[in-house]
Amino acid sequence: MWFTRQLTVRTGRTTIPLLMLLFLGCFCTQSHGQYVDDPSAIVNVTYTYENYVLSGSMMLKSFPDNMNAYIYYQTYDGVWNLTGTTITAHWQWENADVTYGNWSFSGAVSPYGISKFYVYLQLVESGATYIDDNNGQYYFVNNGAPRSTKNCTGYNVVHTSVANGVTNLNLTLNGNGCALYSPDVKYLTVSITPYTAEVVRIKIADTGNTRWQLPADVVAEGTPSSETIKTKSYTVSYTNSPFTFKVARPSGEVLFDTSVSGLPSLIFEEEYLEISSVLPDNANIYGLGDMADSFRRPPDTTLQTLWNLDQGTTRKNNAYGSHPVYYELRDGLVHGVFLRNSNGMDIALVAGQITYRVIGGVLDFYFFLGSTPAAAVEQYTSIIGKPAFVPRWTLGFHQCRYGGTWVSTQGIKATVDSLQQAGLYLDTVWADINYMNAYEDFTLGSNFSDWNAYVATLHQEHLYHVPIVDPGIAITNGYGPYQDGLSSDVFLKWPNGSLFFGQVWPGVTVWADWFHPQAGNWWTNEIEKFHQIDSFDGLWIDMNEASNFVTPPGYEPAYQINNDGAWGVTGINTRTLSTNLTHYSGVTEYNVHNLFGHYEAIHTHNALSALNPGNRTFVLSRSTFAGSGHVAQKWNGDNAATWDDLYLSIPQVMSNQLFGIPMVGSDICGFNGETTEELCNRWAQLGAFYPFSRHHHSTGMNDSFFFLWESVTESALNAYTIRYTLLPYLYGLMQQASSTGNAVFRPLWYDNPSDTTTYGIDTQFTLGNGILVTPVLTEGATSVTGYFPDGVWYDWYTRGVESTSPGYRTLDANLTHVNVHIKGGVILPAQYPAKTTYSTTQNPYFLIAALDSNGMSSGGLYVDDGVSVNPAYTQLTFALSGSTLTIRVSQNFFYIGPKLNSVQVLGFNSPSAPSTIYLNGRPLKGAKATLSQQVLNITGLSISLNSNNVLQWK
Ligand code: GLC
Repeated sequence: MWFTRQLTVRTGRTTIPLLMLLFLGCFCTQSHGQYVDDPSAIVNVTYTYENYVLSGSMMLKSFPDNMNAYIYYQTYDGVWNLTGTTITAHWQWENADVTYGNWSFSGAVSPYGISKFYVYLQLVESGATYIDDNNGQYYFVNNGAPRSTKNCTGYNVVHTSVANGVTNLNLTLNGNGCALYSPDVKYLTVSITPYTAEVVRIKIADTGNTRWQLPADVVAEGTPSSETIKTKSYTVSYTNSPFTFKVARPSGEVLFDTSVSGLPSLIFEEEYLEISSVLPDNANIYGLGDMADSFRRPPDTTLQTLWNLDQGTTRKNNAYGSHPVYYELRDGLVHGVFLRNSNGMDIALVAGQITYRVIGGVLDFYFFLGSTPAAAVEQYTSIIGKPAFVPRWTLGFHQCRYGGTWVSTQGIKATVDSLQQAGLYLDTVWADINYMNAYEDFTLGSNFSDWNAYVATLHQEHLYHVPIVDPGIAITNGYGPYQDGLSSDVFLKWPNGSLFFGQVWPGVTVWADWFHPQAGNWWTNEIEKFHQIDSFDGLWIDMNEASNFVTPPGYEPAYQINNDGAWGVTGINTRTLSTNLTHYSGVTEYNVHNLFGHYEAIHTHNALSALNPGNRTFVLSRSTFAGSGHVAQKWNGDNAATWDDLYLSIPQVMSNQLFGIPMVGSDICGFNGETTEELCNRWAQLGAFYPFSRHHHSTGMNDSFFFLWESVTESALNAYTIRYTLLPYLYGLMQQASSTGNAVFRPLWYDNPSDTTTYGIDTQFTLGNGILVTPVLTEGATSVTGYFPDGVWYDWYTRGVESTSPGYRTLDANLTHVNVHIKGGVILPAQYPAKTTYSTTQNPYFLIAALDSNGMSSGGLYVDDGVSVNPAYTQLTFALSGSTLTIRVSQNFFYIGPKLNSVQVLGFNSPSAPSTIYLNGRPLKGAKATLSQQVLNITGLSISLNSNNVLQWK
């Protein structure tokens, strides 16, 4: 009971209604008087305050079962007026059987410290709100005296020049500076470089250019257009004293403005950079990751730390990767801001502003003006690199397992057999660290001596295989990868030249210095040798934050970022490589920590390209950085088998679309902890629509394979039947993503940016613009309420009309039903599904043409060999208007074997079925039209998709 209640409260999505309740509800003291005004309701408040993160705990008296309780705290600061900021506490009910339970809270407050905070309790019972005012108490913060920014008076522009459209400003420190956390840098250079009509780069660097800056071959920087930019979608203006700048739309709408009342204009110290911008109140901000949070970032209480960390889906924490980019949706227009910087940083969203606090590097900003969501993602990915085009087989279902029965070839084979016997879909069989000998990369353990023979049988069935490879290399004597690495001198070292040792699965390990010129060759060599004993089709690179089981000594700067904040702030050397390590070019790990996984992904992609020249690669990485999507794909790491993590996977997958990593997914059924039949069931229904769809489960847990429960088997069959049916559509979206950056798994605002109702929705999503998925995310639910944006929406199963105007609808959602809807106006290319992607691609095509309110729809089809980097391809467009379907082949390089067998027209508004079907003006023998409930089914076709055709009915 208590536990259930905790889950309903913890989602954080309840914040807005709650605040409304605060104003609308009755602040009464009646029926629950035994609790309200009870000075003993909250006791034992303890807290820690580090930098500007306040966290603590308190004991709370248990409250009546029919009520929900919320703890709020307000912070008061002496320097910067944030008084009244209210943050919902995060809490955990630890022991339901005692009178008092332990609650904890944590959150970002003013950047310069707070002097006191206030805790109070609010109880809510069906619409009535009880505030326990009597219990509210002030706590004075005595270990976090605010830092004074009085002398942080910024910089003055002393010289301006313009050459080739680039404006250069020379800046000098105004006064003596404030040395808030380290010495001020005296001379800065600002360059304002227009890239395109929509993209402008504004870079603030030290004039001497001695600080760490990202090499373009590791993190792309885009290239300014060589053509003269005629009409810019932005204006950039600046003030001289102190220097501040503004980016605005030509309409005058200011998007970024570094002159924020009460805040320093610019702090640029050796190890502390700070810059802020004004944001609208209640701004709609998305991005900034990795994160486990609502998709729309809470505009008043977000503290996003970027410091890659082996940490799963903990809300409000930093995680595996770093993406210093945000997108803002304002009045239907989208723009984005990318800070091209790899150093550790905190990015805070607090009422009406954003503040960056960065512990190194330079301030290299890109502003991209959108203004459609698709244009914004396209612009961002033209800076960082377009997403890699994935091999088609990777769009099938992936089965993985850590430990359990997956510790021998036979164990894995038994699961594969069971999946197939249950009639479930399967494309890829994974292998976790258990396949290795003593957890050493590139080896096979004794239980896997017959592994490669098994992989050969998988290949015969057109199944694929991806094993894990970890970056920690065991220091075993005589172990090839270690010895080879020593000979080529590629391992990371301390500044004195001695090897750095840490610990991961195999015990003591070393790590590659990916900046070393020989690192790529060494890695490629090991991968090529390994391929001879394990003929894998892609690689899974894990633990690449880099994760270390021990915390080494290393440099900690004076400004402590909120590393692992949700668990109590910790130093930046915690469970990773020492910040002191020196890379080949002399750069320290302090500056490039966030690039480890990204650079490993680049080398792994290169190795796989060398192994199979001309073929696309598949590299699944846990840690990513801006631009990783160009070489790798991603999963969201170690989630838990909880309903909250089921939900969080949607914002996580969605955010990665904005980071240029469309091929992403979360472990289906949950990685850590025991799943339940119902949770796994709902997860199969949602996971079937992740772009990367993999079931995985941790060691030490019971098995959670789909086939273990009848209901889950049925759900998985239902949901993956839709996925495999839509394979041509999904593949087309992936192809489009790789050429434009366009999102595959989309928030509802992506195609409806003017509809403000969609801005906060992250419990539904669309695949492309044609498929809307409304999954069940709560335990025990048999229905689900979802929003239907403007337009006609058809039910996937009945093909009947579900919605014709924007609004919320409640849909039936029995245990084995996942709600999927088709957008009117879209023609979905489909194939009759078989149990693998390979066999599906052999089957005939059909079209699902969903009519809009004007009786029109359109779509396309992209086909190639599924694997080549530069494939011969064929591209078609479909347009349906009235009773004419026009099929045009716009590119024709790849022969499409399977024929178009049937066409379904949804929303066919006619009393009777047409009697004759015509192909290119001539009656088509054998073709038949049937009409049922406004669905016209034209069958008996056998139309080649290699030429233009016009299909008509009368
Ligand atoms: C890490 C990975 C997980 C994997 C495990 C063992 O926790 O995130 O997916 O199963 O290591 O390799």
